[in-house]
Amino acid sequence: MPTLLRSFLLPAVITAAIAIHAPAQDRIKVGEFASLTGGNASFGQSSHKGTQLAIDDLNSAGGVLGRQLQLITEDDQSLAGQPATIVQKFIAQDKVVAVLGEVASSKSLEAAPICQQNHIPMISPASTNPKVTEVGDYIFRVCFIDPFQGTVMAKFALAHGWKKVALLTDVKQDYSVGLGEFFIKYLKENGGEIVKEQKYSSGDKDFRAQLTSLKAAQPDAIFVPGYYAEVALIGKQARLLGLKMPLLGGDGWVGDSLLKVAGNSLDGSFFSCHFAADDQSPVVQAFVKKFRARYQETPDDMAALGYDSAMILAEAMKRAGTTQGDKLRDAIAATRNHPGITGSITLDEKRNAAKPAVILTISDGGFKFQQTVAP
Ligand code: PHE
Repeated sequence: MPTLLRSFLLPAVITAAIAIHAPAQDRIKVGEFASLTGGNASFGQSSHKGTQLAIDDLNSAGGVLGRQLQLITEDDQSLAGQPATIVQKFIAQDKVVAVLGEVASSKSLEAAPICQQNHIPMISPASTNPKVTEVGDYIFRVCFIDPFQGTVMAKFALAHGWKKVALLTDVKQDYSVGLGEFFIKYLKENGGEIVKEQKYSSGDKDFRAQLTSLKAAQPDAIFVPGYYAEVALIGKQARLLGLKMPLLGGDGWVGDSLLKVAGNSLDGSFFSCHFAADDQSPVVQAFVKKFRARYQETPDDMAALGYDSAMILAEAMKRAGTTQGDKLRDAIAATRNHPGITGSITLDEKRNAAKPAVILTISDGGFKFQQTVAP
């Protein structure tokens, strides 16, 4: 190529290359780890949909700090060990400025120390075990915690006159073990009694031995602070074994396959959670409408919390004026009265959100709003 022509063309080529690559390089990278497949797939699928919707809303409104956001999502397959690997990759390779995830507390607990060490802020949408944010000052959540949730359900049991309660806990999940402990504490301190305790492990399919032993103790109700996959089978097997008392649970019951698998067997049961799609507040209804238009399904708790987690992160970036770790951390910590889909979110000095819980009941194989309980 003649020198003159080359000197004329090359800058043009370089300029074109920069034009193509610059926006990508310039995007603000946020890592999201979620259980898109495996035993808790409904958690990850939902939280991801909500998170992605928030990122897209932010980008179509011009992005943050004049830049577009890029959500890098990795599937932890609901497997222990994966969150650590993924978050290490986010930080070392992708150079994310913040991490969003996970729903299950054990998964968040695995990732949190890595984010903390690297001074990369992490916001969990839905992990309720208190230990998650105790990992350090870079770790936040946008939901309530289990001492509150456990108290809500223990109070609910006592208010219904169910004083003799049995417990069935998933020993593989920090969430389940913790929530069980907080429930027992409140119940016992307020005139209730735990008549029997049994355990299982995530992935178990046969709960008949535990249920038979619980039945013999004749409880008024059974608290099952587990995740939807096992709870659905527990509900079915409990009815087959002739246990007629209500089962009680927490937010881990949320998941589209709970009722698909359990059918009518959980009718008359109750659980606490974060969000009711039939809440008539304009904020909730606008979100439900937007979510349905995009995904042709109704959002659940994790979707709403995923949306809130991404919005709180973006708001903090705007206030900080930078994505730099320590300044971003300070700005997230300063979140006050954020108008979230799941209610007004103020982060306290322990980086948790004090918010109302919603109690749902199950009747005719469907969820029904029961009541809201303020913190
Ligand atoms: N709170 C549960 C945990 O910490 C996760 C969860 C949240 C599940 C919301 C369903 C809905 O493990």
